Amino acid sequence: MLTIDVISVQPQMLRGFLEESIVARAVKKGACEIRIRNLRDYAHDRWRKVDDKPYGGGPGMLMMCAPWFEAVEDCTKDSPSEGRRIIMTSPAGRRFDQRMAEELSHERHIVFMCGHYEGFDARIRTLATDEVSIGDYVMTGGEIAAAAMADAVVRLLPGVLGGGAAATANESFGRGGMLEAPQYTHPPVFRGMAVPEILLSGDHARIEAWRKAESCRLTESVRPDLAARPCAANETTRS
Ligand code: ADE
Repeated sequence: MLTIDVISVQPQMLRGFLEESIVARAVKKGACEIRIRNLRDYAHDRWRKVDDKPYGGGPGMLMMCAPWFEAVEDCTKDSPSEGRRIIMTSPAGRRFDQRMAEELSHERHIVFMCGHYEGFDARIRTLATDEVSIGDYVMTGGEIAAAAMADAVVRLLPGVLGGGAAATANESFGRGGMLEAPQYTHPPVFRGMAVPEILLSGDHARIEAWRKAESCRLTESVRPDLAARPCAANETTRS
């Protein structure tokens, strides 16, 4: 079973999300365990201080080493390093994507270290196996990044979504890294907008071919960076 630890100075922010979502359902179903830890519980003074001014000057405050080392050591004391990832959230990290979510869903223990203030004392980086960003923008803290990554990982765990592996097989990025074809449900015509005929035809081979083509078309128009390789590969299999 996957254990996820999240270490943060704003644990209440994570509780709101992780305790009332698919993630919470996954915990109830026994697919994973989530432990939210307050970094301030590892502070060394009665003000529960976890940050200090940077040496050499500069704006803002940096997170201090001792609370982080002790919090991470506490989370990892009973888990072997094999199958364990310690992820520092940072806008300067490797970009999180579906492939990484899949990779993480096979691990046994993930620790998310949520950054804050102007950043971490550089020595804290030595604790992490990965430094990860959820996108090219800067947020005030790593909580939303950790919650987003935990959600993307947990929904891939066996038994979490109804429909099993099929529930995640055809969605965006699941099919050769492309966006999902448009989907429709009842009614067949709504305010003059009709469901494409082919989806009502019952011809599964043609529907599948239509979905592939739509998926290619959409990806090429919205995310050409994703489309280049898979669509080119599609062309060669067609010819
Ligand atoms: N902390 C602040 N911005 C972030 C981002 N884009 N990804 C991960 N952690 C962050």
